[in-house]
Amino acid sequence: MDFKGKIILAPMAGVTDAPFRKIARRYGADYCVSEMISSVAVHFKDRKTALLAKTEKSDTPIGIQIFGHDPEIMGECAYLVSRNEYEHCISDTPPDIIDINMGRSP
Ligand SMILES: Cc1cc2nc3c(=O)[nH]c(=O)nc-3n(C[C@H](O)[C@H](O)[C@H](O)COP(=O)(O)O)c2cc1C
Repeated sequence: MDFKGKIILAPMAGVTDAPFRKIARRYGADYCVSEMISSVAVHFKDRKTALLAKTEKSDTPIGIQIFGHDPEIMGECAYLVSRNEYEHCISDTPPDIIDINMGRSP
């Protein structure tokens, strides 16, 4: 992806949900990033997290930010989310980018 000259909405936990992204795009954002998605929650097939990770064609290009510190769980999470195979997550398109946040899970 070419980000040169593009307006990017940074990932913000508790802020950059789908409605916020829609507004940001209306006001010119070219690329948006989701709220942060816990890799551990994806590992345990958490349904609420599935809603946060949902991606739709009308909300692209989009990055899904995943966080965690366990390489295996992060890898599994990136695999599932990037291939749109996260159970309970009903997306009509996979994300364009997986944004890695190496923050430690609580
Ligand atoms: C309310 C809030 C929540 C944030 N949540 C995240 C987050 O979940 N993941 C992340 O990587 N950065 C997060 N950030 C950092 C922002 O993505 C961004 O890097 C930071 O605000 C600096 O951006 P700026 O240089 O455009 O001001 C958050 C920032 C704010 C203000």
